[in-house]
Amino acid sequence: MNIYKAKNYEDMSRKAANILSAQIIMKPNCVLGLATGSTPIGIYKQLIDRYEKGDLDFSQVTTVNLDEYKGLEKENEQSYHYFMNKNLFSHININPNHTHIPNGMEEDSKKECSRYEQLIQNLGGVDLQLLGLGHNGHIGFNEPDQIFYKETHCVDLQESTIKANQRFFDCIDSVPKQAYTMGIKTIVQARKIVVVVSGKDKAEIVKKAFFGPVTPLVPASILQMHNDVTLVGDEDALSSISKMI
Ligand code: GLP
Repeated sequence: MNIYKAKNYEDMSRKAANILSAQIIMKPNCVLGLATGSTPIGIYKQLIDRYEKGDLDFSQVTTVNLDEYKGLEKENEQSYHYFMNKNLFSHININPNHTHIPNGMEEDSKKECSRYEQLIQNLGGVDLQLLGLGHNGHIGFNEPDQIFYKETHCVDLQESTIKANQRFFDCIDSVPKQAYTMGIKTIVQARKIVVVVSGKDKAEIVKKAFFGPVTPLVPASILQMHNDVTLVGDEDALSSISKMI
């Protein structure tokens, strides 16, 4: 595993954006796996900036997002569709037909999950997957559990995740209780994985995920088994592992 230590959030965003930019330059028709949450926003800003300067071209890029809340319409400001349009897609020259996110409005979970899984396989898999890290070690919306759920599936969100995401909603009752997410196997099949972490509140889970036992109770710990993972974190997020790196 490569670990890049950044000075702060800004520096972390720049370093991670460098890796994504290199991927797009080396393979202009690459498949990027994208993430939501507050951590990647700075990376998306950097990518937009580079696009505006003429240094990046997204015309041949395809994207697949990790997850989406079940029951939220694309137009809902809290949906991940809305998030991606607002923070990235509407600012770059990506073909909207090449951007994929699970359809939260499909009620038939089985149908939507197999459609999404098949879509990723049909694209030939993901070249580079960007991941944030939940406080409980979740990746995408793969919550701590007794087993690793392999493929795209519908999850019941944990109380702690609902609480953590409440800040984006009017009240806790408006936070969806379920989501569609790529599974663990779907994620680790990506050829390259970049995990971004920022802030002191992530320090303990970073240590557990990357230096603790590999267990479905800490879903991100499976990344220790992948042979091309890069962790990009700021000093605060890496503070509990600073002696190990
Ligand atoms: C959500 C997303 C995850 C993300 C996590 C962490 O639960 N589904 O993909 O990694 O939040 O978010 P943040 O970056 O805001 O800490």
